[in-house]
Amino acid sequence: MATIWFLSAVFLTCLLLAALKRKKQQRGPPSPPGFPIIGNLHQLGDLPHQSLWRLSKKYGPVMFLRLGRVPTVVVSSSETAKQALKTHDIHCCSRPSLEGPRALSYNYLDIAFSPFDDYWKELRRMCVQELFSAKRVHSIQPIKEEEVKRLIDSVAESASSRSPVNLSEKFLALTVSVICKAAFGLSFQGTVLNNDRFNKLVREAFMFLGSFSASDFFPNGGWIIDRLTGLQGWRERSVRDLDDFYEQMFDLHKQVNKNGVEDFVDLLLRLEKEETVLGYGKLTRNHIKAILMNVLLGAINTSAITMTWAMAELMRNPRAMDKVQTEIRNQMGNNRSVITLDDIDQLHYLKMVIKETWRLHPPAPLLVPREVISEFEINGYKIQPKTLLHVNAWAIGRDPDTWKDPEVFFPE
Ligand code: HEM
Repeated sequence: MATIWFLSAVFLTCLLLAALKRKKQQRGPPSPPGFPIIGNLHQLGDLPHQSLWRLSKKYGPVMFLRLGRVPTVVVSSSETAKQALKTHDIHCCSRPSLEGPRALSYNYLDIAFSPFDDYWKELRRMCVQELFSAKRVHSIQPIKEEEVKRLIDSVAESASSRSPVNLSEKFLALTVSVICKAAFGLSFQGTVLNNDRFNKLVREAFMFLGSFSASDFFPNGGWIIDRLTGLQGWRERSVRDLDDFYEQMFDLHKQVNKNGVEDFVDLLLRLEKEETVLGYGKLTRNHIKAILMNVLLGAINTSAITMTWAMAELMRNPRAMDKVQTEIRNQMGNNRSVITLDDIDQLHYLKMVIKETWRLHPPAPLLVPREVISEFEINGYKIQPKTLLHVNAWAIGRDPDTWKDPEVFFPE
């Protein structure tokens, strides 16, 4: 008799566990309660990555939100990010059609925001083989060395006259000069944009790329809100100014003889002339402008922000500053004043400082949003096609399950 009771209990437990598992599998991820129409939009706040991080502490590392009309999933731990970005990459590697990047990318002709199709694949192949090849990266080394030397000289001059230095401005000027010379072959001074206007334009356009816009969440009437708030007009102006800038760059490239040195614009114009086909059609001027937009906005602010935060953290942490200075001095010896690309491999602690800076201050805290193409699961939760997927890199860098004392800058 006891055996029958025991077997029945085991059988019922198995049935219950199977039912629970099935229920979990059919379920979407946990979700904070929202309002009708706006859903969870009011919970994003001024700094969405930080608001979403706080929500993830309550609702877990896979969280569902409805942003207006848009179903959205946010992953906030390294394990769930790995499931999305690595294990199930093929199910969620497309990009959503967001309003901010639309005009800046000439209808998603760029690298970062184009949807997953043959163009997406061939554009990346072209980037690996031509635009960002090891040879090309090496070829811009003299530009970097010259600009870094200029920065060091200017800091040394300020130090000897005991005048304060605004490092954020210096780093922005450095990355602007390096990227403009590497990509466009010349400095932007003397073009349609002066120094301040150019910096402002890059900052604003970078913000539009990552900003949330009402048109994205309310496809039928959101544009009215964007017009009323001035966002639309602001964005249009920025796109127009950038377009003028690219056009002037193309004109200058017809005139300037740079002794056979091929920059990004030369390369892309050559591919256009050769009638290169990428995916569904030939490379056009709009494709070139969209790709240049990624280089301009993807490279300048991210690099400047990284250097600024790294220096800020080193100043707050004299122990780490001392260690990184000693490493660099030992590598350079007594008779050199600048480190070269070949030295970088030996500067292990400096690399740890940069990675620790990215952990605490990722320049793109929510990465670039993805769009789900086909159904898949994260932690047993079903994620439906057409869902917007955010990976919260800011939260991952502060996950106490991964990092002891997550808020402490500790490169080791
Ligand atoms: C400190 C420097 C940089 C940081 C921290 C950084 C960070 C990032 C991040 C987080 C992404 C999004 C990846 C994703 O969500 O899939 C990204 C994408 C991208 N970045 Fe950077 N970036 C840096 C420098 C650069 C530079 C120098 C360039 C070009 C010259 C560049 C061009 C791009 C492009 C084209 C993409 C889109 C890639 C794709 O969608 O496949 N970035 N970057």
